[in-house]
Amino acid sequence: SKTPECTELSKSEMREVDLGSGRALLIKEHGEFSAMGHKCPHYGAPLVKGVLSKGHVRCPWHGACFNIATGDIEDFPGLDSLPTFQVRVEKDKVIIRANKDLPSFLSSNVSAGPAGLVCAETLRQEGFTDRIVMCTMDRHPPYDRPKLSKSLESTAEQLRLRSMDFLQDHDIELLTEKEAVAIDVKTRSVTFEDGLRMEYRKLFIATGSKPRPMNYKGKDVRNVFHLRTPEDANSVARLANNKNAVIVGTSFVGMEVAAALTDKAHSVSVIGIETVPFKKALGEKVGKAIMKVGTHSGEIKLFRTRSTYLKEVVLKSGKVLRADVCVIGAGSVPATGFLKQSGIHMDSKGFITVNKMMQTNADGVFAGGDMVIFPFPPRNNKKVNIPHWQMAHVHGRVAALSMMGRATEIKTVPYFWSAMFGKTIRYAGYGDGFDDVIIQGDLDELRFVAFYTRSEEVVAVASMNYDPIVSRVAEVLGSGKTIKKRDVE
Ligand SMILES: Cc1cc2nc3c(=O)[nH]c(=O)nc-3n(C[C@H](O)[C@H](O)[C@H](O)COP(=O)(O)OP(=O)(O)OC[C@H]3O[C@@H](n4cnc5c(N)ncnc54)[C@H](O)[C@@H]3O)c2cc1C
Ligand code: FES
Repeated sequence: SKTPECTELSKSEMREVDLGSGRALLIKEHGEFSAMGHKCPHYGAPLVKGVLSKGHVRCPWHGACFNIATGDIEDFPGLDSLPTFQVRVEKDKVIIRANKDLPSFLSSNVSAGPAGLVCAETLRQEGFTDRIVMCTMDRHPPYDRPKLSKSLESTAEQLRLRSMDFLQDHDIELLTEKEAVAIDVKTRSVTFEDGLRMEYRKLFIATGSKPRPMNYKGKDVRNVFHLRTPEDANSVARLANNKNAVIVGTSFVGMEVAAALTDKAHSVSVIGIETVPFKKALGEKVGKAIMKVGTHSGEIKLFRTRSTYLKEVVLKSGKVLRADVCVIGAGSVPATGFLKQSGIHMDSKGFITVNKMMQTNADGVFAGGDMVIFPFPPRNNKKVNIPHWQMAHVHGRVAALSMMGRATEIKTVPYFWSAMFGKTIRYAGYGDGFDDVIIQGDLDELRFVAFYTRSEEVVAVASMNYDPIVSRVAEVLGSGKTIKKRDVE
């Protein structure tokens, strides 16, 4: 074994070690040794570069957390927990005992996907034995939606979060292309577009969001996309090849697509109402720094089409942009229209309101993910909407435990990421209403960390090329501590 001498490691340290047939992460915390898988099951980040603190390791890339004793995933994103290995110390040597066929990841324990999938999987992991039916209007089983705008050519198969075999093995029924059109909480039933009616004892609604409706003519053209499915992304990549692409909206999705197309398309034009993308989320300085695609500020007047194809986008200013393909990334709204008559309580914007256990006002009905507002402890339980991939996982898990009468509260730090031009911006916390930004590092070089403060407190952090600072801050915020502005300054 090539493991180190036990005194080689400081009191709290992680080290990747070669076991011959694979690698493991050897951890020493407060003098105690443990070992587990070395790669994050989400996108494979080397956990040795993450943050070790209080019995868990937080991934440097998107903040997933793993218990060092059990390998269990304690915060998301990601589907799987990690394998753990026996460790003992003999004559100052650390001995790690692992199977020769070292598994890279271990399925089950607490696994995840978007809200609905995590809910279903958590129910099974926690011993729920009744029928579980997962219904989606998508054509495909749950897939990695964030990759749609970053890797346009990925197929549904490549993006799939779980195989059909996995779902079958765990007795999770999946009905695809099943659009729910009504829910009756009195008879406890869901009606689908094709007329099917299903009764439930417990219901979890996680229908996510849909593109914000926009006011323009020519909606039924065939080369305009909203990027909701792998087919949308694949079509955009194909149609943009050496052609002119127009992106409407400077949202993260819009800008990610623009970045992904710059190498492929003849031209990429971005149209935004804001002059600086992400100004509201990240502040003007950071927004400007990461804006590598020039944007046309303005609003669309009309889409000029020939038969069923968009040809030109005309702005209110009179400017005309040739468009062989157009992607609309102008934000989203909750996909809750079908619940209007259901009696399930929603706010004026259509977000379902839930309590800290993800329960709605209707008996046996739970909701989570992009389409809810939920009480957020760091803001005195004010109800907020946090439409992140990671948060949807958390909601799914909390809802499942509530459904089983094992109420648990949300304990997480919101974590978001976006990738453009091969670089990733990471973000943790909840920066809504920040009043100042403290930046360290070099914005021009895109190597920086930005602390978002509200009054005297750091409420969020963003970084590029500065790992693992965002996970480190998430770790501090997650432990319930506050970071003061003066600490950062
Ligand atoms: C292109 C793109 C890129 C993104 N990139 C990132 C990123 O980099 N990082 C990040 O943190 N977040 C990102 N997001 C946001 C992230 O994908 C969402 O926060 C997350 O998917 C929300 O999960 P959810 O389970 O609430 O809903 P969704 O993932 O939206 O899932 C909703 C499900 O409900 C189904 N559904 C909707 N209405 C009905 C109905 N009436 N009947 C039946 N089924 C229905 C849908 O078909 C879908 O299967 C991105 C989103 C998009 C679109
Ligand atoms: S790679 Fe670890 S959380 Fe994404």
